[in-house]
Amino acid sequence: MKQELWTAVDDYITDLLVCADAPLQVALEESLKAGLPPHQVSPAQGKLLQLLVRLREAQNILEIGTLGGYSTIWLARGLGEGGRVVTLESDAGHAEIARDNIARSGLAGIVEVRVAPALDALSRLAADGSGPFDLIFIDADKANSEHYLSRALELSATGTVIIADNVVRSGAVVDETSTDPSVTGTRRFMEALAAEPRVSATALQTVGAKGHDGFALALVL
Ligand code: SAH
Ligand code: DHB
Ligand code: MG
Repeated sequence: MKQELWTAVDDYITDLLVCADAPLQVALEESLKAGLPPHQVSPAQGKLLQLLVRLREAQNILEIGTLGGYSTIWLARGLGEGGRVVTLESDAGHAEIARDNIARSGLAGIVEVRVAPALDALSRLAADGSGPFDLIFIDADKANSEHYLSRALELSATGTVIIADNVVRSGAVVDETSTDPSVTGTRRFMEALAAEPRVSATALQTVGAKGHDGFALALVL
């Protein structure tokens, strides 16, 4: 019952305020058709990501966890002239679908999909002197989120915005006894964020089409 209402309100918001046009719809359909898990951000969340890119006037975006590129398309569309996205994905099949979706959205020239385990790809980015990134979206395997945060900080500068998805997980985040690696990983991520003097952070729990979840938002000082 609650989920029905959350979905109805999400649909209401999406129909009114979120223009999820054909390339985004097709990206969703092609991702589902290819058997990808339906873990992409909701349309309203995608629009929020795009607005955060615009508010930050981000030029360089790093995404950790591409899936079919749905969030990538939202992020990339917030960029101004000359902006770029690097997105990291360990699953070659996911990356292939993402590249197709990104190309159909006319964004192939500004989005680079790197296929590698994110920890390796992040080390390489740091070694190459890539960054600093203006906005970093952490949305891959939650067991590693704490490590993604520390790598993200190495690739940040004052003013970098760090966003992490799925930090609430139907409330499981408050279960100190959980042995679910996604939950323990998220709890370590949240504790690392709390202990990190280089950021000012908060998290918001959300309800919607994807249930009860939330995201963390941090500003690098
Ligand atoms: N950001 C996407 C959803 C990402 S789902 C969106 O909102 O549209 C999480 C993705 O992270 C999956 O595609 C999964 O294959 C990828 N992933 C999982 N572990 C990873 C790792 N160690 N390195 C890179 N990507 C990983
Ligand atoms: C899962 C991962 C996600 O990034 C998400 O947005 C929803 C669910 C998952 O692993 O279950
Ligand atoms: Mg997610």
